Amino acid sequence: MSPAALEKPLTLALSKGRIFDETLPLLAAAGIQVSENPESSRKLILPTSDPGLQLIIVRASDVPTYVQYGAADFGIAGKDVLFEHAAGNAGGLYQPIDLNIARCRLCVAVREGFDYQAAVAQGSRLRVATKYVRAAREHFARKGVYVDLIKLYGSMELAPLVGLADAIVDLVSTGNTLKANHLVAVEDIVDISSRLIVNQASLKTRAKQLQPLIDAFGRASAAED
Ligand code: ATP
Ligand code: PRP
Ligand code: MG
Repeated sequence: MSPAALEKPLTLALSKGRIFDETLPLLAAAGIQVSENPESSRKLILPTSDPGLQLIIVRASDVPTYVQYGAADFGIAGKDVLFEHAAGNAGGLYQPIDLNIARCRLCVAVREGFDYQAAVAQGSRLRVATKYVRAAREHFARKGVYVDLIKLYGSMELAPLVGLADAIVDLVSTGNTLKANHLVAVEDIVDISSRLIVNQASLKTRAKQLQPLIDAFGRASAAED
């Protein structure tokens, strides 16, 4: 057995669903296969074909926390999640690569027929429901629009339909979810994709194992562009 195989494996934190699915080809490009799928397996620690690398499956918004505290050496998280996480304290996170996966945009959306521009022009105070409180607060502050933010954890598209909010700030990709709920996007806030994030202590103490993987991710994501 090689000395590398005797060391503790590196741990990569991922969320299941689109981030896991879109990371598999990047791992494959580095010659690494994952035989179990977190959608069907209940296991939260998944081995890979490389004895030097294991995956842990966590909630998307928890990925930065695991990496920050060193419970994972590195991870993959959306810029939306990273921006909200930084509202707390994102010290200890190195963000070397934009992987260009899980691409979408953060938007303001309202019910069809709601005149958002007129409401803004009149200086109306808007109720805005969102999971992305920091991004929303900064966006409306930049525009000089008064808003009452209502924190939600999902299904934001419902809020304007049942009178909880005038507008939402949420992620949009195909636009199908907005359309199905008779909502329209009225403002784009920022383009979103996922970044590789690395624990700074791991980067120093485990550089020999980490750097080749960081480089392989960089090459694979550039090739996908
Ligand atoms: P949770 O399960 O904790 O509610 P989540 O809904 O944020 O998490 P995902 O839907 O898997 O988890 O989203 C993970 C990341 O993928 C998001 O942080 C965002 O960067 C990106 N993303 C979210 N929705 C889309 C989408 N419709 N199209 C492309 N990328 C998306
Ligand atoms: C995300 C996001 C939107 C939807 C937008 O939800 O929160 O609701 O995708 O994508 P679309 O423009 O292609 O329709 P997701 O699919 O992650 O479901 P979730 O509510 O479980 O997070
Ligand atoms: Mg989601």
